[in-house]
Amino acid sequence: MTHKALWGGRFKHALSATALKFSSSIGLDKQLYQEDIAGSIAHVEMLAAAKILKAEEARRIRASLRAIQKEIESGKFELTDDFEDIHMAIEHRLIQKIGVLGGKLHTARSRNDQVATDERMYLRTAVREISKQIAQLQRVLLYKAEKYFGTLMPGYTHLQRAQPILVSHYLLAYLSMFERDFERLQECRKRFNKLPLGAAAFAGTSYPIDRARVAKKLHFDGIVENSIDAVSDRDYLIEFASACSMIMMHLSRFAEDLVLWTSKEFAFAEISDAYTTGSSIMPQKKNPDMAELVRGKAGRVYGSLINLLTMMKGLPLAYNRDMQEDKFPMFDLVHTTRESLFVFSHVLVHTTFRRKHMEEELRNDFLSATDVADYLVRKGLPFREAHEITGKIVSYCLDHRMFFGNLDLDRLQSFSKAFEADIFDYLLPHKSIEQKKSAGSTSPQEVKKQVVHWTRVLQKRKG
Ligand code: ARG
Repeated sequence: MTHKALWGGRFKHALSATALKFSSSIGLDKQLYQEDIAGSIAHVEMLAAAKILKAEEARRIRASLRAIQKEIESGKFELTDDFEDIHMAIEHRLIQKIGVLGGKLHTARSRNDQVATDERMYLRTAVREISKQIAQLQRVLLYKAEKYFGTLMPGYTHLQRAQPILVSHYLLAYLSMFERDFERLQECRKRFNKLPLGAAAFAGTSYPIDRARVAKKLHFDGIVENSIDAVSDRDYLIEFASACSMIMMHLSRFAEDLVLWTSKEFAFAEISDAYTTGSSIMPQKKNPDMAELVRGKAGRVYGSLINLLTMMKGLPLAYNRDMQEDKFPMFDLVHTTRESLFVFSHVLVHTTFRRKHMEEELRNDFLSATDVADYLVRKGLPFREAHEITGKIVSYCLDHRMFFGNLDLDRLQSFSKAFEADIFDYLLPHKSIEQKKSAGSTSPQEVKKQVVHWTRVLQKRKG
């Protein structure tokens, strides 16, 4: 069944089923029903306060809108594909319930300002939920950082073993990155939390409406001042999509490390069976699929960002129907980011680090070479010379199947007279870490400071 279009007046023929199917967005924008109804209630209350509608009329419309919300939630009113969009569906039902009076709701507004309002309200909820999820992930990271405090691992640059670090230091690096993601969401919300409603189609309305009142009722921090701007832009959504893309980029890199670390080649970490899968052909396998999927889904969220940017780039002001196509990327990116954060937090909870193995790997390697060179520099050698000598020691060890731990003072002094007994305070990985002095470094004191800092920050954060 197709419903008579609410804009049908100037048309002799009904919209073809093909055109309706192609142009309907209700399959997706039905997710905005709560925002749409809340917006309509605030609008109709304002219309009464401004004496544009009678108080009794507004009351009846409001009561019906509330009833429609219940009907949607109970399934009594089905948001089927033969409505053009959520705004039309709700208005249609309103008119069905209270007759011509229902037609008065749309006084002094348009779907153009309505949809922009619904979206901003929807994104407000999304920001709140995603922020909570980021805080939860940060708590998992902090918990793990405390649990593994003192555990060493090889740190990498160019995916080559570089210097020893504390596992906690690595985890807190991600905690810091997610903190910036959190801030980006709050900043983006601050910019978009302005009310477009009241812009009408784009030029405003001749009714004496009170936009500030509606803004207050719907918890916006003021109105979008320019009515053309209010219905024309989707920058708020693009900025939000960009903040989500950044979250996904961080999750994806982290996931990549987990994929590497859980391989036999690294064997630094293990993800519990509950968050890994088997192979249908190779019985011995345990695959880090959840981490891989998070990594893969980053591409999907970037896709939404590019989708939105491309959709907008050539549009003349003001509203164009192209903009309805923002629904797919908007919902998809919110759902994907939320799901990824949720699953990744669980994966991390169920990940254990193989302390003994990582420390053994460190002993059987030369990751404190930089500390040896730095030591020689402190004894007065130019850095280049110190670098050269240390390189020779590494080469000697490789030739003789030895590691730094096998070297005694005599052997070291055969490379440079500058070596003294205190070199043994630097030579081994755990010593290397303890000797770090700079702020933010991997020394246990500095990492401890970060743990204390984040404990305080996250305790204060609600949710
Ligand atoms: N469903 C439409 C959208 O999301 C609502 C606005 C339609 N406005 C119009 N003049 N056709 O963009």
